[in-house]
Amino acid sequence: MGLTLKVSMKDKIQEIGKSAIEEIALAADADALEKVRVKYFGRKGLVTELFKQMVGVSSADRAEVGRLINSLKETVSKAFDEKAPSLSSGRDSRAQKIDITLPGIAREVGHIHPISKTIEEICSIFISLGFKVVEGPEIENEHYNFEALNIPLEHPSRDAFDTFYLDDKWLLRSHTSPVQARFMEKNKPPFAIVIPGKVYRPDATDASHSFMFHQVEGLVVSDNIKFSDLKGALTLFARQMFGEAIKMRFRPSFFPFTEPSAEVDISCILCKSTVHGPRSTEEKRCSLCGGKGWIEILGAGMVNPKIFKNVGYNPEKVTGFAFGMGVERIAILKYGITDIRMFFENDIRFLRQF
Ligand code: DAH
Repeated sequence: MGLTLKVSMKDKIQEIGKSAIEEIALAADADALEKVRVKYFGRKGLVTELFKQMVGVSSADRAEVGRLINSLKETVSKAFDEKAPSLSSGRDSRAQKIDITLPGIAREVGHIHPISKTIEEICSIFISLGFKVVEGPEIENEHYNFEALNIPLEHPSRDAFDTFYLDDKWLLRSHTSPVQARFMEKNKPPFAIVIPGKVYRPDATDASHSFMFHQVEGLVVSDNIKFSDLKGALTLFARQMFGEAIKMRFRPSFFPFTEPSAEVDISCILCKSTVHGPRSTEEKRCSLCGGKGWIEILGAGMVNPKIFKNVGYNPEKVTGFAFGMGVERIAILKYGITDIRMFFENDIRFLRQF
């Protein structure tokens, strides 16, 4: 009896093994393979049933029959594992978790900040005139921020460039002009450069002041640079930036690093008036120029020969012009922005408009 059972169990095991291997080999897709798996390993599967039939096997045969069933299970499992990766199906267990019909997660595309955009616009106008872009450090020392630019210690003009000091020697640059001196020390004329960057001043923040803002500095040095070259370059810049109808005005001014110096105005881009002069009543005054018809946009001048001496150039041989403008101011005018703080608040509703 024991022997018969053992023999028939053995045959059964072999038979099941053979048919399972055949059916696995024939399975054409993952669905078919899954059906084979259920047929053999499901709750009522043929292999599962074999284990259940172990109760009827005599204790003498149990060890061997058990070993045979285990080895059958192992062989058939291995055949499943080897076959599965080659089949694909929408009902594949991994694929089931990914519904490719769901709409994807749209990533918002960022874009350039209005200040960076304005810097690029300013620089590209000067690049079209042959200028090169140069940058310098935001942490400066007194020498480059002041002395090299003819702003001596205790001189009242230092007040105009009120400064954040880091220690006795180092400070956060209060303008981009120090890069003029740094560049000239390392390079020989002729050259034409623009220097964009951040500058810092301990001003109380309000609609028109920020303790950090941006400037673009310009410097041209060669053997025969004239004030008319400065006027020509700046007029072309203003027209490209604000429109062909823009008029320019140079007012005498003072900067320690230029001589003569000028403050440069453009005709008001809001009221477009340069002829009315101050209006008589408050209501009629242009909100941008206050009725003056002019708006200041930058400082400029012919490079002071003292600066050339400071950097080792021969002031008898070279001449040059320089200018410096506030980027926020240019952007405020160009885009009609009313508060400088908007640039730095990261309000997406503001930034999206550019
Ligand atoms: N550095 C000046 C400022 O921050 C701006 C300036 C004026 C720069 C005249 C120049 C210049 O190069 O020639 O106010």
